[in-house]
Amino acid sequence: MSGLEGKNVVLGVTGGISAYKAAELCRLLRKAGADVRVVMTRAACEFITPLTLQTLSGHPVAQNLFDLGEEATIGHIRLADEADVVVVAPATADFIARFAAGMADDLLAAVVLATKAPVLLAPAMNVNMWEHPLTRANLARLVGTGVTTVGPDAGELACGWIGAGRLVDPAEIAVAVEALVGPRPLDGRRVVVTAGPTWEAVDDVRFLGNRSSGKMGFALAAAAARRGAEVTLVAGPVSLPTPPGVARRMDVESALEMQRALAELDAEADVVVMAAAVADFRPATRAAGKLSRRQDAPSSVTLVQNPDLLAELGRMRRGTRPLLVGFAAESGLAADALVARARQKLVEKGCDVMIANDLAAAGSDDNAVTLVFRDGRARALPRAPKAAVAEAIWTELLRAS
Ligand code: CTP
Repeated sequence: MSGLEGKNVVLGVTGGISAYKAAELCRLLRKAGADVRVVMTRAACEFITPLTLQTLSGHPVAQNLFDLGEEATIGHIRLADEADVVVVAPATADFIARFAAGMADDLLAAVVLATKAPVLLAPAMNVNMWEHPLTRANLARLVGTGVTTVGPDAGELACGWIGAGRLVDPAEIAVAVEALVGPRPLDGRRVVVTAGPTWEAVDDVRFLGNRSSGKMGFALAAAAARRGAEVTLVAGPVSLPTPPGVARRMDVESALEMQRALAELDAEADVVVMAAAVADFRPATRAAGKLSRRQDAPSSVTLVQNPDLLAELGRMRRGTRPLLVGFAAESGLAADALVARARQKLVEKGCDVMIANDLAAAGSDDNAVTLVFRDGRARALPRAPKAAVAEAIWTELLRAS
């Protein structure tokens, strides 16, 4: 990897047991060509010595906001200004909370607040701290301001618990840094993402719908835009703001409207990601006005099948364009059955990648997915906030293509 040639990376290290892994990350970043400036919090120095990181980075480690000597060498504003990217690994719950609150009470907090460069956090902490609603809210707030996250992984934690909270592999963090400031792998590519539910009208006020929030699709659109893609987001009825960098948004209501939008876009697209929860059925007729309880209350609603939009795209495409990515939402299946079902849908619909998710494992802001590829390979991604899952999905798609 040499994608960080000439880039200035500020590596922030906060006080968690996995701080020792920052040494490996520092080495990998330098190997990729980056000039690395390390900033450590006071707590981080309890876990790993500044001498280690000074030796590996080749620069003195910055630790103190009020040290005149340090400020004279390279002040905190200069560190923030000169950075092409700031990565904090590990990022503890305490650091995430201080950052989300906009505090600047130590050098690293001041740097992340002052910088205009992208900020990447690699959270690591005890599973209960990770799952605490305050940590989730803090992270969601930061993601909303454009901060990117990678991980954490699930597994055995140093504190003895088993669950999510482990720092992701330093190699994965280095890849995520490169995705932010390295070459933009989707530059010039046209990506279409569908998101959200569809509403199928019963009459002019009533509809059949589903509970899809649209968050996963919106996060995928945002992550593609960050990688340089020209993104068109075809959104079902949701009230989410258009993510920064998304070139075009088409709001649709029903499956048939989504079909028309896709027909307009398909010829130009390099990648189509069908994250929308398209309704499989619609009422056969749409009653004009509002059906009245008194006069015309129907005893049943006749349904007809909607077209399978993904399967249509699969049938229509020429050669390998566009790359087609589907989502298979399943409930009540064991892990192998989930993958087998996704594989079956992949073949039936003629797409390249099917992303399986277990509805039970998903929350409104989290998701846990498995990518199933055409060659039969499957890659499970651990449960994480949807923004982090979206990042990981693009990393996997790009690695595979
Ligand atoms: N899909 C579509 N058009 C439909 C239904 C689904 O394009 N009418 C797409 C979804 O956007 C998703 C993929 O097909 O990318 C799989 O959707 P899913 O609901 O899991 O599959 P279904 O084909 O509806 O199968 P089943 O109802 O048996 O789960």
